[in-house]
Amino acid sequence: MDQKLATLLEDTRRRQGPVVVLTGAGISAESGIPTFRGEEGYWVVGSRNYMPQEMATHSMFEQAPDEVWRWYLYRFGVCRDAQPNAGHAALVRLERALGDRFTLVTQNIDGLHRRAGSQRVYCIHGDAAWVRCAAECGVGLLDLPRFPPRTRDQPLTAEDRRQLTCPRCGGWLRPHVLWFDEYYDEEHYRLESALRAARGADLLLVVGTSGATNLPMQIGELVYMRGAALVDVNPEENPFAELAERSPRGHFARGSACERLPEIVAALGAEG
Ligand code: APR
Repeated sequence: MDQKLATLLEDTRRRQGPVVVLTGAGISAESGIPTFRGEEGYWVVGSRNYMPQEMATHSMFEQAPDEVWRWYLYRFGVCRDAQPNAGHAALVRLERALGDRFTLVTQNIDGLHRRAGSQRVYCIHGDAAWVRCAAECGVGLLDLPRFPPRTRDQPLTAEDRRQLTCPRCGGWLRPHVLWFDEYYDEEHYRLESALRAARGADLLLVVGTSGATNLPMQIGELVYMRGAALVDVNPEENPFAELAERSPRGHFARGSACERLPEIVAALGAEG
């Protein structure tokens, strides 16, 4: 490991302060789940191509709920078939070593952190494990019904639609995910809790995110302004790497999550 990173992590370990880990799609890339701005590509509806930024919206759901659900059921199937990797496992060891000094803030809806064994997790973009009423009728969070494996092109059947009907009001259920035309909140997406954790962090460890969304960037900037330590793990340049490089207590650990996280968490006191 780079000497500067080793010194920074050793210093952080001695201070025994709170550690916040912020993850994005990159941590699940080595589990085979495509990243958002990677090569997952567009989605074809009729003769039109849609990007994820267009599909994952409330307005698209209002216009074409079948299409939006078809897209999510395919993606959720990919998540369900994937397995947690060495990066997820490293963060579980870190949580066990730090206890209540540890908070994980994830943008991922794939459930791999939870399946690996992480517990202190805020899913700020929602979680594929749940659905809720699209009309917010008050039914609360429900388990995502189990669907057989699907292909990309498979249309919804009458039985799929029945399973995606709210048992309380009879309207559509929706995925429990934050759409591009919606706002973060505490109730569903733990906005205040994530910001509170960032305000108290002595180290922010960012893994596998391009910094394209609002709350994660706010967390990075907050930590940077407070002068807390900031380490970014990513094979590519990104805005968190820039912040880390500008920070006196920052480091850009270039590389993949599976390559870099095991040594980083070991240096923070989590045994392998
Ligand atoms: N290890 C670590 N990082 C990786 C790896 C890897 N093996 N492979 C790719 N990456 C990095 C990429 O370099 C990129 O910076 O992961 C990042 C993935 O970026 P995005 O695809 O933009 O994903 P993310 O930042 O999580 O997107 C944020 O945008 O579409 C919305 O709601 C969606 O939660 C998502 C949010």
